[in-house]
Amino acid sequence: MSSIPALTAPRGDPLPPPAHVAIIMDGNGRWAQARGLPRIAGHRAGARAVRRTIEAALAHGVRWLTLYAFSSENWRRPQDEVSDLTALLRHYLKSEIAELAENGVRLRMIGEAARFAEDIQASLRDAERVTAGNARLNLTIALSYGGRAEIIAAARRIAEAAARGEIDPARLDEAGFASQLFTAGMPDPDLIIRTSGERRLSNFLLWQAAYAELVFLNVLWPDFSADHFAEALTDYASRERRFGARPS
Ligand code: IPE
Ligand code: IPE
Ligand code: MG
Repeated sequence: MSSIPALTAPRGDPLPPPAHVAIIMDGNGRWAQARGLPRIAGHRAGARAVRRTIEAALAHGVRWLTLYAFSSENWRRPQDEVSDLTALLRHYLKSEIAELAENGVRLRMIGEAARFAEDIQASLRDAERVTAGNARLNLTIALSYGGRAEIIAAARRIAEAAARGEIDPARLDEAGFASQLFTAGMPDPDLIIRTSGERRLSNFLLWQAAYAELVFLNVLWPDFSADHFAEALTDYASRERRFGARPS
């Protein structure tokens, strides 16, 4: 009797570690709810998980770490949760930057910075400036970030430049388009992790995720640990990336 081929990805040599790991940090609200706590308690615990994750990325020699902290759509949440989240961001920026700088972390922000209060925008600018000379880990925080808004903004800038006669639309290519995104100059993510069991991108890095490997973990973000990070890297290493080419 002929056997049915297994529907698993063919396994070759393990992949080298991902250069760029991006994480959709989801499940803070459910974590709090399960404990009878207000949602902000989940977000605070989530901020502690961010710390652990940065340490894990440093320990594994990951060069690029991008964290989805607040989406363009998250502004639709009730006003009290939005103000709790912005207060937490304000606190985080004040309390963590010095240590990040000491650990060789370079901080960048992607998203619509202008939607935040002026003091938060100033803290973000300071953090980017103070850490600009670091190169051990490139940490990017996505704040008021939405992939579609990012793509539209890039398209608008390019159309305006074309209307002024500064660029020839026929010569626009992928690299030219990507240079107008928030992520200009950054490598695409190799691995995208989402916690909380949801299996969707929720408008995260839509352009950049074209060939990312996706790992969905059944852990709520505040419980995310170095072990979960290692588990995702192990899963990633077992994948075969083809980029559309013939299987090897
Ligand atoms: C992720 O946790 C944090 C943000 C989106 C700001 P959630 O707040 O989405 O938690 P759940 O998904 O409701 O559990
Ligand atoms: C995605 O989580 C955004 C962040 C983790 C910052 P959401 O909780 O907002 O996504 P949906 O609403 O479940 O798709
Ligand atoms: Mg959520």
